Amino acid sequence: MAFPRLIFFLMLAIIPICNAQGLKLGYYEKTCPGAEAIVEKTTSHYISRAPTLAAPLLRMHFHDCFIRGCDGSVLLNSTKNNLAEIDAIPNQSLRGFQVIEAAKSELEQKCPGVVSCADILALVARDAISLIKGPYWNVPLGRRDGKVSIMLEALFNLPPPFANITTLKAQFASVGLNAKDLVVLSGGHTIGNSHCSSFTSRIYNFTGKGDTDPTMDANYVARLKSKCTSINDVKTIVEMDPGSFKIFDGSYYSLVEKRRGLFQSDAALLDDNETKAYVKLQAMSHGSTFFKDFAESMEKMGRIGVLTGKAGEIRKRCSFIN
Ligand code: HEM
Ligand SMILES: *[C@@H]1O[C@H](CO)[C@@H](O)[C@H](O)[C@H]1NC(C)=O
Ligand SMILES: *[C@@H]1O[C@H](CO)[C@@H](O)[C@H](O)[C@H]1NC(C)=O
Ligand SMILES: *[C@@H]1O[C@H](CO)[C@@H](O)[C@H](O)[C@H]1NC(C)=O
Ligand SMILES: *[C@@H]1O[C@H](CO)[C@@H](O)[C@H](O)[C@H]1NC(C)=O
Ligand SMILES: *[C@@H]1O[C@H](CO)[C@@H](O)[C@H](O)[C@H]1NC(C)=O
Repeated sequence: MAFPRLIFFLMLAIIPICNAQGLKLGYYEKTCPGAEAIVEKTTSHYISRAPTLAAPLLRMHFHDCFIRGCDGSVLLNSTKNNLAEIDAIPNQSLRGFQVIEAAKSELEQKCPGVVSCADILALVARDAISLIKGPYWNVPLGRRDGKVSIMLEALFNLPPPFANITTLKAQFASVGLNAKDLVVLSGGHTIGNSHCSSFTSRIYNFTGKGDTDPTMDANYVARLKSKCTSINDVKTIVEMDPGSFKIFDGSYYSLVEKRRGLFQSDAALLDDNETKAYVKLQAMSHGSTFFKDFAESMEKMGRIGVLTGKAGEIRKRCSFIN
């Protein structure tokens, strides 16, 4: 009976690989030993000097995955004939490209043409959050880089800050993420900053009558108005999780529960029973399962529409196709 048992164990070994759509933990172990350590060291170099870079790096990975899958398309520069994602309005405040480029150039010296920019971005986002004492998640590797980046796709595929719960759920569903992933990943707003322009209509002209979103806590509205002095304020930035914007924790859910979510998309999590129940649970328990849930949903997000096998390419420089 040894033979069937062997097959059984072989299947156990193969199934997780299939589930990962061809991505694999330790994918570069043989082709570029130390690749993950190089990315970690580079990320650490930057994050130790500028911890606030962790937020835009996480957001960059999210944007990459939601447009054409996690294929590094968010990193591509515009060209004479093509406006890339990078030049879309939602790119505002995307920064940290230098971290990706630094890791890439070291990897190109060590093993030219092996490690994709999409994988580097996925690793950098994980390492950055882990370095600021946030959750740690597995990053199966083997993504290849896309050759296309289109500004308008960023506009259509990224949920806008004024999205309602129906739109949010639909946009997440369209990339294979469910309502739980939506409420868990929105918790990424526990760190970072926002430009006033992403929410001033909510506090200055909600329905076109010079009014305020009635679902937002009045004290919070007043506070935001003192920071963002007009609906046309495009320069000022505010902390998304005031007082705790550098700390990756469950405080986002307490804010949302207290009707202090910054965007309509944050507040909208109270408009659906499942997402609302999750907000309440995390608020009450100080984010008891948030780290574990975040790690699971990030790993799932990192698999959206990946290119593997012979699809795409391994870019030489992350801002340009070969
Ligand atoms: C659910 C739909 C989402 C919407 C509508 C949304 C919208 C936004 C907006 C408008 C900003 C501010 C940009 C600015 O004005 O500078 C922002 C910032 C941010 N978002 Fe989201 N987001 C969503 C989901 C996510 C997800 C899934 C993540 C990551 C897991 C994420 C991570 C971040 C981070 C870390 C920042 C702060 C960036 C910084 O400090 O530069 N967001 N988001
Ligand atoms: C990408 O384009 C911008 C503006 O067109 C330019 O300033 C920048 O240097 C380019 N990036 C690279 C890596 O060439
Ligand atoms: C974002 O797009 C604007 C144009 O809409 C552009 O001026 C800016 O340089 C872009 N930001 C980044 C980080 O590429
Ligand atoms: C949500 O927003 C979409 C797009 O703006 C709109 O068509 C829809 O009617 C809204 N749904 C609800 C329940 O408000
Ligand atoms: C508020 O919105 C209405 C309708 O879109 C517009 O006519 C009005 O000028 C806006 N007010 C401000 C202060 O922007
Ligand atoms: C959501 O919860 C409310 C109140 O408990 C209930 O009346 C409603 O039927 C629920 N809706 C769904 C779709 O489960």
